[in-house]
Amino acid sequence: MRVLVVGSGGREHALAWKLSQSPALQHLVCAPGNPGMAALAECRPLAAEDPLAVTALARQQRVDLVVVGPELPLSRGVADALRRAGIPVFGPAAAAARLEASKAFAKDVMAAAGVPTAGHRTFDDARAAEAYARTRGALVVKADGLAAGKGVVVAASSEEAVQAIQELSRLGASGASLVLEEVLEGEEVSVIALADGERYVLLPPAQDHKRLLDADQGPNTGGMGAVCPVPQLDTAGLQAVGATVIAPVLREMARRGHPFQGALYAGLMLTRQGPRVLEFNARFGDPEAQVLVLQLAEDLLPLLSACATGTLRQRPLAVAPGASVGVVLASAGYPGPLRTGVPISGTEGPWESARVFHAGTARDAAGRLVTAGGRVLTVCAQGPSLAEARASAYRAVSRIHFEGMQLRHDIGARALRAGAPA
Ligand code: AMP
Ligand code: GLY
Repeated sequence: MRVLVVGSGGREHALAWKLSQSPALQHLVCAPGNPGMAALAECRPLAAEDPLAVTALARQQRVDLVVVGPELPLSRGVADALRRAGIPVFGPAAAAARLEASKAFAKDVMAAAGVPTAGHRTFDDARAAEAYARTRGALVVKADGLAAGKGVVVAASSEEAVQAIQELSRLGASGASLVLEEVLEGEEVSVIALADGERYVLLPPAQDHKRLLDADQGPNTGGMGAVCPVPQLDTAGLQAVGATVIAPVLREMARRGHPFQGALYAGLMLTRQGPRVLEFNARFGDPEAQVLVLQLAEDLLPLLSACATGTLRQRPLAVAPGASVGVVLASAGYPGPLRTGVPISGTEGPWESARVFHAGTARDAAGRLVTAGGRVLTVCAQGPSLAEARASAYRAVSRIHFEGMQLRHDIGARALRAGAPA
């Protein structure tokens, strides 16, 4: 098969790496790709959010499958355009990607499907939202629409909630709707299902580390590291999430005429009352994908292809024993204004059980590897236990350097405390 991977982040490098191992792969094209992906695929420049440009490249490359990594191309209709052109694509249509793009839509689907989520109210008017918040204590304030991680404030008091409503409604561009919901407590887990519109398979649960600093301090980021599997959600718990969250949402989307094909990502809080959905994403997580591909002990290409063609067989996936850990190395200033163009050393390896996935990297005029974004690399390792995977990942990290490099030193520590099998 000839495959095109759309995107240029650590998630797409990880997917490309896993696909590159498939015996069924003939040729891999990544667009726009990054220097890490260039080592295992042909990279092409591409306006990844432009449906016509993606379709033209897929045609020109005569690909049998397109895998869309990021959310923006999906909500812009890239998958719709490819399907119209008769090109199989892994990734939902824009109308199904609304599960991620609109929090109000996601809540509506969950209510119709009977999926457990935080109690909430949706407001079209900021003043009405403020009036409601004044009668409450702690609240989560979410702006509708894609807000690149900036659309959610967990407010500890009604004053903070009112302030958050004013700030988020001033941002305005993300739409007038605000979702106000109860604050849930527990462990956060990402469960990702691969779906063909009707049937699904479950990847092992992963845990992101969203705050910038150790011990979950500092600002929210796109994710500073991940671990897989998550001991707090065992096999029976994962299957229950499939039955109570994934299956009803797939049924409801199909009933509405917008079957979901692609990666359905449920961001869950494991509360005392059971798992509750915090959000859906219409794609693989980043950095979750980087550890998932290391844990998945079977060929990814036939799975993605079966999703794209509506021929998925529902069954448990083969998963490696042990665990995988991924540590994100970020630029100075991240998640705020960045310094880039900084030379990076030590990424060449050789690595034993470790893998280095590129995200914000580039080649300068002299061909040196330099930083080019907020999250620069995800350094991952798989091991027979979580402790060993962690040790290998951090050993690899210690060989890599760029000026101002930021990282967390406690990726996987929560999972380890929760009693991962030693
Ligand atoms: P979301 O984009 O909806 O996943 O929200 C981003 C982050 O805000 C989540 O990863 C949680 O850490 C936090 N969050 C969202 N909703 C809630 C909630 N109802 N209770 C507690 N924390 C939440
Ligand atoms: N790691 C969280 C996300 O990809 O949204």
